[in-house]
Amino acid sequence: MAQPVAIVTGASTGIGFESAKLLAANGFTVYAGARRVDRMEPLKPQGIKVLPLDVTDDASMQGMVAAVLADQGRIDVLVNNAGFGSFGSLEEMELAEGRRQFDVNVFGLARMTQLVLPTMRAAGRGRIINISSIGGKFYEPLGTWYHATKFAVEGLSDALRLELKPHGIRVCIIEPASTVTEWGGIAAEGLLASSGGGPYAAQARDMAAVLASTERPATSTRPEVVAGAVLQAATAARPRTRYPVGRGARAITALRRLLPDRVYDLAVTVVLKRIAG
Ligand SMILES: NC(=O)c1ccc[n+]([C@@H]2O[C@H](COP(=O)([O-])OP(=O)(O)OC[C@H]3O[C@@H](n4cnc5c(N)ncnc54)[C@H](OP(=O)(O)O)[C@@H]3O)[C@@H](O)[C@H]2O)c1
Repeated sequence: MAQPVAIVTGASTGIGFESAKLLAANGFTVYAGARRVDRMEPLKPQGIKVLPLDVTDDASMQGMVAAVLADQGRIDVLVNNAGFGSFGSLEEMELAEGRRQFDVNVFGLARMTQLVLPTMRAAGRGRIINISSIGGKFYEPLGTWYHATKFAVEGLSDALRLELKPHGIRVCIIEPASTVTEWGGIAAEGLLASSGGGPYAAQARDMAAVLASTERPATSTRPEVVAGAVLQAATAARPRTRYPVGRGARAITALRRLLPDRVYDLAVTVVLKRIAG
């Protein structure tokens, strides 16, 4: 039987990079996409095909999917991983920044999904694996836009699961906890640039410390572990609907279900203060 074909978006670093490697090591023909093509060079020796991809550019997304179909004629798995964290106070951030956050984290994911669905539907099978976050279940101050996008990914994925079930296509959500990637540094830098000097400066300093702490291997999860959940979602005979993964992921999501809002608010505030130090 021909090897299954997977597309991984945002594969130049972090979770996407490790997912591309792990899928390739487990028998998938993998196409890795991101804007920084040079950063994907190390994937090539494993047979991974590297393509430029910007999930805010329709022509770029169409180009990648068309290239995969021209090569392989099939797409079995789409891993929608490309994303970033846009942090800062709602008051101070330009709405354009909120739109940019939605463009990458939600509309890019939706458009890539649209582009692979005709092929998957015709085949009567396929898997869409959406990298959400535990941040799609809980929330932090100064994270309005990021959490709004991840809550959106959760709702979009749940509705899509029902929509695609009659067509034999599975939809899985991956909910990583803090993971050691470039994500935290990028998020902290943006936060301090937008809210580090105004009325939210004290909160911004604390949150920047929390975001930067995601890069600490002692308290965060390695991206290889998250890639393991992606592999399970891609290969399990009956994949789970969602995979909370990493340190504290299950506890955080379970407590959110159990605790009333104000108690959860207090718990979040206390825990974040402790992490910020
Ligand atoms: N790290 C965490 O603590 C954590 C926790 C929960 C969920 N997540 C989620 O996991 C996913 C992966 O993040 P990560 O932690 O691995 O962060 P990362 O190391 O910063 O990787 C992000 C990836 O997204 C790509 N990307 C960003 N904008 C893009 C665009 N417009 N078009 C195409 N690719 C784009 C980047 O590639 P280029 O810049 O080269 O395009 C990069 O490969 C994200 O959706 C993130 O929200 C992360």
